[in-house]
Amino acid sequence: MDRYYPLLATLRPLFPFRDEVLPQLLIPEAKRLWKQVLRSQHWAPLVAALNSDSWQRMASSHRDVGGDAIKASLPPSADREALERACRLLVPWRIGPFQLGELVIDSEWQSNLKWSRLQPLLPPLRGLRVADVGCSNGYFLLKMAACAPEIAIGLDPIDRCWLQFAVLQSVLRLPQCGFLPAGIESLEGFPSFFDLIVCMGVLYHQRDPRSAVKQLFRSLRPGGTAIVESLVIDRPGEPELLPKGRYAKMRNAWVIPSPGAMALYLEEAGFHNIAVHNFGAVTTAEQRRTEWAPYESLAEFLDPNDCSLTIEGHPAPHSAIVTGLRPL
Ligand SMILES: C[S@@+](CC[C@H](N)C(=O)[O-])C[C@H]1O[C@@H](n2cnc3c(N)ncnc32)[C@H](O)[C@@H]1O
Repeated sequence: MDRYYPLLATLRPLFPFRDEVLPQLLIPEAKRLWKQVLRSQHWAPLVAALNSDSWQRMASSHRDVGGDAIKASLPPSADREALERACRLLVPWRIGPFQLGELVIDSEWQSNLKWSRLQPLLPPLRGLRVADVGCSNGYFLLKMAACAPEIAIGLDPIDRCWLQFAVLQSVLRLPQCGFLPAGIESLEGFPSFFDLIVCMGVLYHQRDPRSAVKQLFRSLRPGGTAIVESLVIDRPGEPELLPKGRYAKMRNAWVIPSPGAMALYLEEAGFHNIAVHNFGAVTTAEQRRTEWAPYESLAEFLDPNDCSLTIEGHPAPHSAIVTGLRPL
């Protein structure tokens, strides 16, 4: 059997499509992140572990991607201690949960709750080209990859996310499932390529959410679907919040849209059949501090005396999904 290189393997599902994408727009950012990882002292033990002989025996014989936690059994020869060391080096785990053998990774977000809101809105995925933009470690991507798409590719520009995905995928080995370590800007390299783009938790981090949505449109084939999720504010008469300082302690939340503003972004981009799903306030049952994300979480981001406000006095985050079709 060929030797399995976990970092390279995340890119491999893209290779058959190299004539349809614009590599000059995809490769530079991925290469920069690759070099950043290889030069990092912090990641050196992890990279060494991923390239070791013993890591070759991590592939699971049985995986269960359908439950709340994505689960995989480990073969008897797997080095469980090396796997746990790698996972602990990768703290914080923002999305999940996962269970690899006996190891339970209880992430900050109980992402199964978001999955239960997303899943009913997904088209049948068999044979589709699917992207998850801002996929973090790929929790949603892996679930979608289990539905036999032609390709399921995640994009995220953060090294920790890429490495978490590489560890997970070296155990799960879901076919046609890859990860491009790059941001939404790199979608420019996928002109009219995807049938479905899921983009969740990314919009409010964009200084210009309108142009981000236009980019989603350009990367969809005609007839393709965008599913865009965001933290939103839900206060009558307030289409968008442009926080002057932080929002829920985040330095990089530039525009918090209302669900109506999100719909407008999709309409302006040219989407048809726009539908808005408003799911109400994010709760501390869904986003909370855990052993695997041992830092401040939603409970610390809200006003302790009034959970309808953030600690800064802004409307507290709600969650909404807006969907749209690129017309034929
Ligand atoms: C709030 S998390 C959302 C994660 C996941 N999609 C979810 O909905 O639970 C935002 C993610 O977007 C990623 N991100 C940050 N800047 C980005 C960019 N320019 N393009 C794409 N993703 C980005 C972050 O690394 C992070 O994983």
